[in-house]
Amino acid sequence: MRLSEQDRIWVGDTCQRMLDKMEVSIHRSEGKIPYSTDQNGMYDDKSADKDLMWWTNGFWEGMLWLMYAQTGDDYYKKLGNQMEDILDRLLLGTTDYGIDPIHHDAGFMWLHSSVANYRLTGNLRSRTRGLIAANYLSSRFNIKGNYIVAWDGIERQGWSIIDSMMNIPLLYWAAKETGYDRYRSVAMAHADKTLEHVLRPDGSVIHIIHYHEETGEVIESFGGQGYEVGSSWTRGQAWAIYGFALSYLRTREQRYLDAAKRVAQYFLSALAPFEYVPPVDFRSPKEPIYIDTTAGAIAACGLLEIEKHVSEFEKDMYLSGALKILRALTETQCNFNKETDSILQNGSEAYHTNKHLSIIYGDYFYMEAMLRLNGLDIEMW
Ligand code: GLY
Repeated sequence: MRLSEQDRIWVGDTCQRMLDKMEVSIHRSEGKIPYSTDQNGMYDDKSADKDLMWWTNGFWEGMLWLMYAQTGDDYYKKLGNQMEDILDRLLLGTTDYGIDPIHHDAGFMWLHSSVANYRLTGNLRSRTRGLIAANYLSSRFNIKGNYIVAWDGIERQGWSIIDSMMNIPLLYWAAKETGYDRYRSVAMAHADKTLEHVLRPDGSVIHIIHYHEETGEVIESFGGQGYEVGSSWTRGQAWAIYGFALSYLRTREQRYLDAAKRVAQYFLSALAPFEYVPPVDFRSPKEPIYIDTTAGAIAACGLLEIEKHVSEFEKDMYLSGALKILRALTETQCNFNKETDSILQNGSEAYHTNKHLSIIYGDYFYMEAMLRLNGLDIEMW
């Protein structure tokens, strides 16, 4: 990755501030699986049985593995293994809600936990956990409609969401690991269906699409966590940028890279008027303005992935886009004060919840993007 001397120094300094704060935060959060922060700015905890199914519960362990990869400190490895023992209660069905909680976000929950552990340390129990999660995820495939169903509940059996583009890398990993192409077939069928119906001609994407369960025909779409039907939820756009880029990484099918580039170009031009801090939805009222920093961090990771695969003379657009976003987030949205937890502030769960909070995947993707810019080259997806 070609960084100017000035950018290289900025990236190095910012990573150091980030790592210094995370070291302190991680030490005082032992045993927790954070999602957000409490009223004192300290990480909360979703490790109790009633919360364990929460879809973000793999990101904390992902941060531990990023720290381990960056520092080589076995302390992070020890904590990562402890987290996996906690998540095992889901795989073993020993929580109060049996195995139902293993939902479409199995990728988010086990790629950055178990699969990261296996990739970095060769832990075979972690490999097994990753494969069990991949089996659950592929069992959600609707063979008549060619999509992975999101969520549970009879009334939502035909629903699919752009977010799942980020879950299917678990299936690409399982295919490579086992040699069984069926996992890749499921992932590619889902990616192709998403390409056909969720990516709009203008480069934006739908959040939720409802297919007919028996025929796979499109029935309707929903605004989901964005503003309204037809709008452009920025985190969904970011999932598409990174998700299609990762499908390209794992399959080398040009149509996925083209899709990632299309959404990325739309995203960057829509983002410029916001000084590179994303609103929650590009197609929402100008006032009041709600922002979602998590969308910026995710998109930056996606742009850096695209940059790796495009031709020499195209690279600058993606690298400079990622840098603009990360500089804007760092300078206006990050808290490096070690007295409180969480670095990236002002994430958003959804447009209509209308509140800003620090969210664990904001921290995760910010860390991933910054460490990649700083030269860390590990597989997390
Ligand atoms: N995957 C759910 C979200 O992005 O909020």
